[in-house]
Amino acid sequence: MSEKVYNAFSFESTQPVNSVEWRSPSNIALIKYWGKNGNQIPMNASLSMTLKYSFTQTEVRWEPKRDSLPISFDFYLSKQKVGEAFEIRIAKLIEVMLVDFPKISDYHLTINSLNTFPHSAGIASSASGMSALALSLLSMAAQIYNRSYAYDEFLQLASHYARLGSGSACRSVYGPYAIWGQHAEQQSVDEFANPFDVHADFKKMYNSILVFNHEPKSTGSSEGHSLMGSHFYRHGRIEQAADNLNKMIHALKSGDFDVWQQVVENEALSLHGLMFSSAKPVILLNPESLAFLSEFMQFRKGKGLKAAFTIDAGPNIHLLYAKDDREAMQNFISDWITSRKAPINVIDDESGLGAKQLF
Ligand code: DP6
Repeated sequence: MSEKVYNAFSFESTQPVNSVEWRSPSNIALIKYWGKNGNQIPMNASLSMTLKYSFTQTEVRWEPKRDSLPISFDFYLSKQKVGEAFEIRIAKLIEVMLVDFPKISDYHLTINSLNTFPHSAGIASSASGMSALALSLLSMAAQIYNRSYAYDEFLQLASHYARLGSGSACRSVYGPYAIWGQHAEQQSVDEFANPFDVHADFKKMYNSILVFNHEPKSTGSSEGHSLMGSHFYRHGRIEQAADNLNKMIHALKSGDFDVWQQVVENEALSLHGLMFSSAKPVILLNPESLAFLSEFMQFRKGKGLKAAFTIDAGPNIHLLYAKDDREAMQNFISDWITSRKAPINVIDDESGLGAKQLF
């Protein structure tokens, strides 16, 4: 077992501690994962772009346990104890990992996380959070079991555990793009994500996130997924997602921005259409996000911009665009902000390379 002194979060510890730390980014789905079967198996395959600056950094320290509880940990987000909801999700992931690595329960864990982006800012914190945690717990397990893994094998296993923590988290391990869910030609599977290679023109893309609402969502993703179980359009959605994925794969491989734009936007609006039309309607878009979308589409008309919008399960809009159109898009966003009466938070990000071990 390796021992090292580490204080990435400026803890004043001088004692040697056992610790590992990973940084994992968030990702934005171009083909949406919406609906699941059984234990975190996606109803349809999805494909995402990994972000660069919006990430979670998670350190796990461990020390021999003094109590007899099967799971013992303290969790801090930005050095603060946070609500039970976080702890329940973390405990669930630890529990899953205990099945394969029971020795984890010999230790008390101190988990320190920080996000570079505000919680509930329209960026999936569960994707980056669960992925950073799965990577760190797996690194810890490798150390306490004195097991070594080939790098690719390690990432694949971490992606598998991340998926059990939160579906979209399995894609955050890889970048700049990842695919998750069965697709015969891509040899992708439901259990973990795989990196997805794209045409050079798609390798560096930009993402500006317009945060229309900071409040926690009224309906969480898990409830939204469950509404797909008996959704009237369930079968149609499965077919649509498969068709959109095929089109997206072709567009990303060949550098076709027109098809990319049509499919990205169709996925975003279909996701919200499915929410509107579920047995318990879920309305997450607000009048402002809709007004913004129509202004954006008006602005874009006839310009041939390599730019598209996408939306996750919330009111916030992600604008995706290529380097060639960065200036035009940034000008549009800042003009729009100036013309708006109330201030708005915009987060600028871009495609990134996936998770990284820090210690
Ligand atoms: C709309 O991964 O948050 O962002 O597996 O229940 O944790 P759980 O769901 P989650 O769902 C993400 C849904 C989405 C689309 C996507 O990221 O593919």
